[in-house]
Amino acid sequence: MSAVHERPNRDYRFSHVGRGADYDRSLAESVWARFMSVREARLVTRTIWRLFPRGVPRYLDFACGTGRITSIVGPLAQESYGLDISETMILRARQKCPSTTFIVADATRERLEIAPVDLVTAFRFFGNAQQELRREALAAIWTLLRPGGYLIMNNHKNAGSVRCTLRRLRGETLTQTLDYKGTVEILKDAGFKVIRSYGVGFWLFRAAWVRGGFLDSRLGDVLDSVSLVKGIARFCPDIVFLAQKP
Ligand SMILES: C[S@@+](CC[C@H](N)C(=O)[O-])C[C@H]1O[C@@H](n2cnc3c(N)ncnc32)[C@H](O)[C@@H]1O
Repeated sequence: MSAVHERPNRDYRFSHVGRGADYDRSLAESVWARFMSVREARLVTRTIWRLFPRGVPRYLDFACGTGRITSIVGPLAQESYGLDISETMILRARQKCPSTTFIVADATRERLEIAPVDLVTAFRFFGNAQQELRREALAAIWTLLRPGGYLIMNNHKNAGSVRCTLRRLRGETLTQTLDYKGTVEILKDAGFKVIRSYGVGFWLFRAAWVRGGFLDSRLGDVLDSVSLVKGIARFCPDIVFLAQKP
């Protein structure tokens, strides 16, 4: 059994409906969000160069928000799409990524009129969404991908990180509901083959380290190379998964 527990009466679909104006600012103000963003960008671009050395033919960013990941991957693709349920988030994304086609829709409830893509990204979504929505989103991504296409996604709220485990042992009740095993489980249930996972922030299990100037330092960068050691990802607060539709 994985550590998946439900948060009742909360539909993540509507979490960012009016958040377009302040989302980027709130991420920029968080030293931890900035730390994750830099590493995610690095991992995503390296992975894409390896998978698509000549560029990605067709790419879609699922739950793209204000285009944080779209703006990194879009330029590596011949055709790119961003999809989000929130109009205000998409408004910001359009300003950042003029060559991407953005769609305001809930792909779990509407069928999109676009040809299958070669790559889907989905960031800062699965860690937040309720379990039913996670499964519905993976089913939607499955239909959007061509056979053989790749999904790069993350769980930035890993319930099995060292930090969460220590906090739980101290008696704290946590909001994190998805761990490494649970993520692999829902990916497999949806039909995906999990190819690899990469960790971010393994060594960050003391609150003081997360807050301190440490994170923006060269030392933080060096320490974080530990997160990439095979087998460590499951204990990291942020995990990037590479999966494939067979
Ligand atoms: C935390 S934001 C992440 C944005 C972006 N991917 C990033 O990494 O910065 C999560 C996004 O998921 C979107 N979302 C939630 N449910 C959705 C659904 N069913 N279909 C499309 N987007 C959805 C929200 O509107 C929000 O913009």
